[in-house]
Amino acid sequence: MKILVTGASGQVGTELVTALSRKYGNTSIVACDIKSQKKSSVNFREADVRDIGKIKSIIEEEGISRIFHLAALLSASGEKNPEAAFGVNMIGTWNILIAARDLKIERVIIPSTIGVFGPDTPKINVPPTTIVRPRTMYGITKYASELLGEYFFQKFGLDCRGLRYPGLLSYLSPPGGGTTDYAIEMMAAAARGEPYECFLKENTRLPMMYMPDAISALIQLSEADSGKLKRRTDYHVSSFSFTPGELKNEISKLIPDFQVTYRPDFRQQIADQWPESLDSEEASVDWGFHSEYGFSATVGDMLSHLKSPIPS
Ligand SMILES: NC(=O)c1ccc[n+]([C@@H]2O[C@H](COP(=O)([O-])OP(=O)(O)OC[C@H]3O[C@@H](n4cnc5c(N)ncnc54)[C@H](O)[C@@H]3O)[C@@H](O)[C@H]2O)c1
Repeated sequence: MKILVTGASGQVGTELVTALSRKYGNTSIVACDIKSQKKSSVNFREADVRDIGKIKSIIEEEGISRIFHLAALLSASGEKNPEAAFGVNMIGTWNILIAARDLKIERVIIPSTIGVFGPDTPKINVPPTTIVRPRTMYGITKYASELLGEYFFQKFGLDCRGLRYPGLLSYLSPPGGGTTDYAIEMMAAAARGEPYECFLKENTRLPMMYMPDAISALIQLSEADSGKLKRRTDYHVSSFSFTPGELKNEISKLIPDFQVTYRPDFRQQIADQWPESLDSEEASVDWGFHSEYGFSATVGDMLSHLKSPIPS
C-alpha cells in the first residue's frame, strides 16, 4: 500500500505522516503540500490540490492506493479569505475525489470538523445527525465535502470515510488559523512565562482533543472494516470540553502566576455557533474509537513539551 497525505505540512499532517511512517514504513508514504518542506523524513511532493493534473500525475507516478486528504483553509483563515477557502476546500476536495475515482484509489479519508455546525445546532452532546446549517465558508465547504464523499461512495463505490474533529491540541506544529487555536496559544504563552490575551470570552465552551488521540482515531477509521461503518464521512470524535477560563485555571495549577486577559475578536462569533460537546458513541461502537488523554493529562503533557521543545 502506498499512501498520499495532502496538507502534510500542517498541524495534523505533520503528525499523521510521522505516525503513518512508523506504522507502514517511510517508503510507503508520500507527503504533499503547497508549502515546500525542506526536511522531510518521507518522499515530499509539492502540489496545489486545486491543480487536478498535478494531483493525478503524483498518484500515477508514485503508485498511490490510499489518500488522506487534509489540505484545507481553516475557520479563521477562511473568514479572512472566503474565495481562497472555497478554492482549496471545495475545488481541492472535488479534485481529490475525481482523481481517486478515475485512478481507482481504494480508499480516501477526509477529516471534517465541528465547523460544519451553525447557530441552529443544539449545544450539548451533539450526535452526527442533527441540524447543521453552517454560516462560515469553512463550515459550508467542509459540510459539502462530507456530502460529496458520501455521494462518491453511493454513486461510484469509492470507499470514502471521514470524521468530525473538535479543536485539536498539539505542540509539534503550530495551529493553522482555526478558532480553537487560542488553547494552544495560551499553553505556549504559559510555558514561555508570558501572559496571554485570549481572543475568545472566558466562558466559551468548546469540544477538544489531544493530537495523539486525533491521529489514532483517523488511522483507526482508515483501517476499519468497511461493512461495520454505518456512517461514511461524519463520525463524531471528541475527548473533553473546556472554556478559556477553565484552561487558565488548569494551567495555573502548574504555573501559579500565569495571567490571562480576554479580548474577543471576530472568532468569538464563529465559536458561538459551535456545539459545546459532541456525542462520539457511534464511532466507539462502529470502529472502537476511544481517547487515552483526559483534560488534565493533556494540559500537563502539552506544558511539559512546550517548556522543553525538541531542538529543530
Ligand atoms: N487543527 C484542528 O483543530 C482541526 C479541527 C477540525 C478539523 N481539522 C481538519 O483537519 C485537516 C487538517 O487541518 P490542520 O489543522 O492540519 O490545518 P493546517 O492549516 O495546519 O494545515 C493545512 C495544510 O494544507 C496546506 N494547503 C493549503 N492550501 C493548499 C493547497 N491549495 N494545496 C495543497 N495544500 C494546501 C497548508 O499549506 C497546510 O500545510 C483539515 O481538513 C481540517 O479541516 C483540523
